[in-house]
Amino acid sequence: MSEEAPAKKELAAVKGTKDILPAEVGAWQAAEAAVRGTFELYGYRELRAPVLEYTELFEKGTGATSDVVVKEMYTFIDKGGRSVTLRPEYTPSVARAIIEHRLDLQPAPLRFYYMGPMFRYDKPQKGRYRQFHQIDVEVFGEKDPAIDAEIVEMAHALLSRLGVGETKTLVNSVGCEACRPGYHALLRAAAGAKRAVLCPDCQRKIETNPLRIFDCKLEPCREAAASFPRITDHLCPECRDHFDRFRACLDLYGIPFEVDPTLVRGLDYYTKTAFEIVTTKLGSQNAICGGGRYDDMMKEFGGPDICAIGFAMGMERLLAVADITVDRGKFLYIAHLGDEARRAAMTLARQFRRAGIECLLEYKVRGLKAHLGRASKLEASWVLIVGDDELKAGRFPLKEMASGTQTVGTPEDLIRTVNGDA
Ligand code: HAM
Repeated sequence: MSEEAPAKKELAAVKGTKDILPAEVGAWQAAEAAVRGTFELYGYRELRAPVLEYTELFEKGTGATSDVVVKEMYTFIDKGGRSVTLRPEYTPSVARAIIEHRLDLQPAPLRFYYMGPMFRYDKPQKGRYRQFHQIDVEVFGEKDPAIDAEIVEMAHALLSRLGVGETKTLVNSVGCEACRPGYHALLRAAAGAKRAVLCPDCQRKIETNPLRIFDCKLEPCREAAASFPRITDHLCPECRDHFDRFRACLDLYGIPFEVDPTLVRGLDYYTKTAFEIVTTKLGSQNAICGGGRYDDMMKEFGGPDICAIGFAMGMERLLAVADITVDRGKFLYIAHLGDEARRAAMTLARQFRRAGIECLLEYKVRGLKAHLGRASKLEASWVLIVGDDELKAGRFPLKEMASGTQTVGTPEDLIRTVNGDA
C-alpha cells in the first residue's frame, strides 16, 4: 500500500447509495422470487429497459412540472453531446419500449413487471435514497376499472406473501382532460386567495400545476390546502363512474381502502385512478407503493392512443417492513488431507456440483481437526473427508454435521445420501 493511502471518505459509496452486502442479499433474492412468483400468477411478464434514457423521455413523460424532473434527475451530456438521464422512475421507459418495438400490435391488454434501480437526487434520509430499487407493474390497453383493482389486489397479494402487515390503502381520482381544466381553475382561484400563506414553491405551483400544492409537506401549505375544493367533487360523469366501479371491485376483493381527495401523487401523468399503500411502521417515508392510471402518456409520446395503469413499490421500504427468513441452504465442505487428496478434492467437488450439491472447497492445507473446525464455523451441513487411504479405497467418509452421523461410500453413494435418495 502506498504511504499516501486515499482518505477513507474518498472511497466511500456515493451519498444516498448503498451496497447490498451478502448478508442482506438473501432477503432481496427472496423478495424478488416472491415478486416473480406472484405477478406471473396474474399473467404479467418481465420487460427490462435500460437504466439510461434520453432526458426528454422524462421531461415529456414524468412531467416538466414534477419535482422529480425539476429537482431530482441525474442528467448529464454524454460524449456525443446528447442529454441523457439515469431513470428516476420506470413508467416512461415502458411506454417508450412499447412504441419503439410496436408491442401495441400484440393483443391487449399487455401486462408487464420489472425490478431494478432508479435514481433521484433527493435529500437522503431513512427510507429515501438516491439510488433505490423499484418493483414496477404496468398494464396497457385495458380501460375497465377492474384492472385498476386487479393491480391493487396484486400488490396486496405480494405484501401478504412477504408478511407485510399494517398497511393502509389510499385511493383517489385525479380526473381527466375533460374535468381537470375546470377543477384547476377552481383550485387556482382558491390557492390564489391564500397566496400569502403559501411557500414560494407552492406560489409558483399556482401557475404551473396547482394540483402539486397538495404534495407540499409544510404545515401552512397543508393547512391552506385543506380548505381547497376537492377533485372528487368535480369529476366528469365518466371519471366518477370509473372511480365508483374501481371501488366496487376493491370491495369485491375485500380490500379495505380510504378515499383521500388530497392524494394527487408527485408525477404529472396521472388520470382518473391514483392510489398509494402506506405503512404505519416507517415514519415519514411511509409510502411503500404508489401508482395510478396514465391514459394519455402513449398518445403524448406520439404513439397509439392506448390507456395504461401501473404502480411501483420501493424495494428498500418493502424489505424494511417485510418478514423474511433466509435459509443459507445446505452445503458440503471437503476436508482434504495431503497434496494428492487436494487434487482429488477438486474433481470430487466438480462431481458433487454436477449432481446439484453446493460444494465448498478451500485450498489451504489443514489437518482434519482444523478442517472440521472450519466447516463447523462456516455451518456446513456435511463434511467429506478425503485422505490417502480413502483415495486408494475409492470410498470416503461423509459426516453429517448436525447429527454427527458418519456414512462411508463411493462418491455416487454419497451423492445419493446428500440428495436424500439413498
Ligand atoms: P413514486 O410514487 O414516485 O411512483 O414511487 C413509487 C415508490 O418508490 C414509492 O412509493 C416508494 O416506495 C419508492 N421510492 C420513491 N422514491 C424513493 C427514494 N428516493 N428512496 C426510496 N424509495 C423510493 C413512481 O415511481 C411511478 N412510476 C409509479 C407508477 C407506475 N405509476 C404508474 N405506473
